Amino acid sequence: MEYTFKDYYKNEVRLSFEHEPFSNDPRHVWVIAQFEGKWLLTKHKGRGLEFPGGKVEEGETAEEAAVREVMEETGAIVKDLKYVAQYFVDGKRDKIIKNVYFATLERLEEQPSYYETLAPQLLDELPEKIKQNSSFSFMMKDEVLQHCLAHIKEYYL
Ligand code: GTP
Repeated sequence: MEYTFKDYYKNEVRLSFEHEPFSNDPRHVWVIAQFEGKWLLTKHKGRGLEFPGGKVEEGETAEEAAVREVMEETGAIVKDLKYVAQYFVDGKRDKIIKNVYFATLERLEEQPSYYETLAPQLLDELPEKIKQNSSFSFMMKDEVLQHCLAHIKEYYL
């Protein structure tokens, strides 16, 4: 199953629920995270509220990057990590490939620093109109989130 749509900046996005259809060595990860039934987001200093994620470092697997980014940005320890999807963004300057995971979390430890982000936030529900909500990051404003949440609800919740 593949979806094609435009992101918040009008770049074309291809999203697939197959296992790593665009690259088996993706350089980016995004983690839809849950702690005790609540969504765990981080507040990026420039972009606003979003699920944690970032770049895969040299010598690291995508799964390792997912676990590390969750810890760095939220202070949480991943209990269980499931692959959800992969997407390709055809940006004006860069093309990026990102794996999406669903993580359930074990503990939330307060951190002295959250890198590029402010303290994490737990939400009972994600608001319906994220697109019009300036507190949220552009990453939360395209169809990636809605399709991935539907997949997570169908298979993992
Ligand atoms: P930093 O080194 O973290 O500052 O990264 P960067 O600003 O070079 O950005 P990055 O390599 O993470 O992404 C490059 C571009 O790809 C961004 O400017 C975005 O336009 C786009 N991009 C990155 N992640 C996403 C995403 O999750 N969704 C969409 N739609 N675009 C993204």
